[in-house]
Amino acid sequence: MQTIKDTLAENFGGPVSKLGSRQFKLDECPDLSDKVAVVTGGSEGIGFGVTYTLLKHNISKLYILSVSKEVVEGAKDVMAKELGQDKADRTVWIQCDLANWMRVKEVAENIKRDAPRLDILVNNAGRGIMPAEMTSYGVDRHMAVNHMGHVILTSHLLPLMKRTAENGAIVRISNQSSNLHQKAPSDTKFATLEEINRDLGPNGQYARSKLAAILYARYFTRKVTRNGFPNLLMNATHPGFVSSKQSRTDIFDAFPLAGYAMSHGIEPFKKDQFEGAVPTVYAVTTTEESGQYICPPAIPEPGSELAQSDELADSLMELTRKVISEKTGAPFDDLAVND
Ligand SMILES: NC(=O)c1ccc[n+]([C@@H]2O[C@H](COP(=O)([O-])OP(=O)(O)OC[C@H]3O[C@@H](n4cnc5c(N)ncnc54)[C@H](OP(=O)(O)O)[C@@H]3O)[C@@H](O)[C@H]2O)c1
Repeated sequence: MQTIKDTLAENFGGPVSKLGSRQFKLDECPDLSDKVAVVTGGSEGIGFGVTYTLLKHNISKLYILSVSKEVVEGAKDVMAKELGQDKADRTVWIQCDLANWMRVKEVAENIKRDAPRLDILVNNAGRGIMPAEMTSYGVDRHMAVNHMGHVILTSHLLPLMKRTAENGAIVRISNQSSNLHQKAPSDTKFATLEEINRDLGPNGQYARSKLAAILYARYFTRKVTRNGFPNLLMNATHPGFVSSKQSRTDIFDAFPLAGYAMSHGIEPFKKDQFEGAVPTVYAVTTTEESGQYICPPAIPEPGSELAQSDELADSLMELTRKVISEKTGAPFDDLAVND
């Protein structure tokens, strides 16, 4: 019975969201004075729910990485009106398309020069359930943005996060995954670029990239957390079924007709952006575990069989290292994928 209650709480909004076996509320977010955060996609949807909460709990500086200037300006207006100008002024917006890997590297290097420390990294931005597309590097856009762009960002920020952790703080990273990771094909190997460029249809494309988000957290935990940096944690999260641009608008690109059911039909049962932010806020402010797949509100789940495979995680990260190095020709010295 509790399993059913957990499933309802993990995925839907309203009263059922309180049925979960383990509770966490945004109000329980600790005071974050003196801490510094980076949030990708922090201007809109779930990411906005996260940035708003971190600011409300006094984070001292928060970098938002996203694409659209208008969207982030709207977000800053809301922050100033509701939290005060002082809080809104703690945000620094950096335009950064995660598909542009050299730009991601440049942005990370700029943050490293600018920030004295980094306590929180939220790898949240993502391409939703949309048709397959290639980036200018010739890599599937779902994998390039949702997984590889975030690996580059994390890896180049890693020296700063290691320094912060060595000085006694707990540094927390979260990767936004989804329960849809279970829809990744059972023969997924992450063996070659040709394989990840295979068009699986909108659900499959998305699912494969969300599987990568969990595998990366588990890989990082083996290679970094349990390899000398016990204060440097990385977890993956599922936000639930959340009302956002992705689930209201982008879904029509993939399913012009059936999108109506997902966009409007289920709207009353979806979580709002703040409910969707709960597992991420828990993961980047409160948990002391690493390598978990955290579902709303704060329930660790094993994830699919593929998500639990160390061998698959190793293949994914080996391929990630190879593709990024080959496509950019850049010496990514610390991809957090080095043994
Ligand atoms: N909504 C759900 O039900 C649901 C369920 C499971 C998982 N998720 C995941 O949760 C995360 C947030 O989704 P959401 O529903 O909140 O979507 P959203 O409202 O559409 O917000 C997406 C955010 O990501 C940014 N972004 C998108 N592509 C980017 C790129 N190439 N480079 C940099 N930033 C980019 C957007 O910035 P701009 O506005 O500037 O483009 C925006 O700030 C995603 O990873 C999504 O897959 C969502």
